Amino acid sequence: MRLTDLRGILQYIPQFREKTFILAIDGAIVTDENFATLLLDVAVLWSLNIRVALVHGAAEQIKALAGEQQVKASDFDGAGITDAPTLKLALTAANRLTHEILEGLSANDLRAASTNVITAYPMGIIQGVDRLFTGKVERVDVELLQSLLAQGVVPVIPPLGFDGDGNTYRVNSDGVAVAVAETLKAIKLIFITSQDGLIYRDQLLRQVPVLELEKLLQQDQGGFAHGMLSKAQHAVAACHAGVSRVHIINGKVDEGLLAEVFSNDSIGTLVYANEYQQIRPAKKKDVRAIQSLTKQAVEADELVKRSRTVLEKSLADYSIFEIDRNPVACVALHLYPEQQKGELACLYVSSSHENHGIGRKLIQFVERRARELGVRELLALSTQAFTYFQSKGGFVEGTPDDLPPARREQYEQSGRNSKVLVKKLN
Ligand SMILES: CC(C)(COP(=O)(O)OP(=O)(O)OC[C@H]1O[C@@H](n2cnc3c(N)ncnc32)[C@H](O)[C@@H]1OP(=O)(O)O)[C@@H](O)C(=O)NCCC(=O)NCCS
Repeated sequence: MRLTDLRGILQYIPQFREKTFILAIDGAIVTDENFATLLLDVAVLWSLNIRVALVHGAAEQIKALAGEQQVKASDFDGAGITDAPTLKLALTAANRLTHEILEGLSANDLRAASTNVITAYPMGIIQGVDRLFTGKVERVDVELLQSLLAQGVVPVIPPLGFDGDGNTYRVNSDGVAVAVAETLKAIKLIFITSQDGLIYRDQLLRQVPVLELEKLLQQDQGGFAHGMLSKAQHAVAACHAGVSRVHIINGKVDEGLLAEVFSNDSIGTLVYANEYQQIRPAKKKDVRAIQSLTKQAVEADELVKRSRTVLEKSLADYSIFEIDRNPVACVALHLYPEQQKGELACLYVSSSHENHGIGRKLIQFVERRARELGVRELLALSTQAFTYFQSKGGFVEGTPDDLPPARREQYEQSGRNSKVLVKKLN
């Protein structure tokens, strides 16, 4: 190793220290000869104070076990139908694999623990077909994972979910990885596969913004190489869930993991969410866009009507969320500096872009901006989305007394009777 390599690595340390990475390892990689080196790389990450949790799949092992035992498996990857014999295979295969990973980690002097952190329910009947023992991730036991990580223990998470009533379900490991990355607020999710990265129409995608990948998935799912579709879909889901970098790499490449993490030229595919590029301050020309975007919500009494003059006067408070240069959502932050309060207002996401996490991103954006501007308490008024602010934005219900005096007067006069929501910023 050259000293310059070490310098290259050290420059990344401040931004990664005490952050969490999730490694999602395909079963096929665990039996590869490079696996020992991969675990050595995990030890390097831990030694640099990066917290690493391991999620693993078991498809290859289920396939092999089914062959050995001459049992016909109904599904391999936890996305289709898991019948009782296949669940049995999955339990044996996953437990063996977890054990092998624990062995490898202990050979590298890493403390590790196999966990049961996934609560799952049956996926149920989809288009008339009962998925039997295939489960859907419902919850992740974040406290357990965090306490393990805080004690320097590597959590190993198998592709199995428990329902609390003594039942076990086979869950898809890519889905588990996304759920774990989201709950642990991981800054990276790294899928370690046996391919070089996301291959689309025979070409390796190197660096791809999440919205571009989403568009490819919508337009041409068939263009993704076999086995890569699930990675592409879950990479998009992870970015929308707040993980800003998702990597898909080949676990058979020596030092691939370190090269991917500690260099700007990724060896595999990097899918990135760069939400701030899409959020920009509103300009004069956006007044019309804000009005036409929010027209429907105003008509439904979800938002208050704002005249052109009012918008122009407070335009500096507004931000626009753009996709392909088209405004698809907006939000405002009105300040009450005397009370060190701020109001998140006029949050609107066009119906064609709902449920993609844009609303949440805008709330996070406004929160960050409010903090920078010294706001200690963020308020929001809502007639029909108050549970949204509570469940997705972490607000709690307040009362009109929480409003600054001038705002309170306006509130009384409007007669809208909106609920007042409050979030303390620290
Ligand atoms: C409320 C709103 C901003 C959500 O935006 P979005 O980008 O679709 O939301 P996200 O993608 O971040 O979150 C989607 C989740 O919120 C839930 N949700 C959406 N609207 C909701 C509402 N009015 N009340 C409760 N939950 C709601 C969805 O069911 C979804 O839940 P899930 O992820 O658990 O399945 C958008 O629906 C909107 O513009 N509404 C009209 C205007 C409004 O009421 N604004 C707030 C007043 S300032």
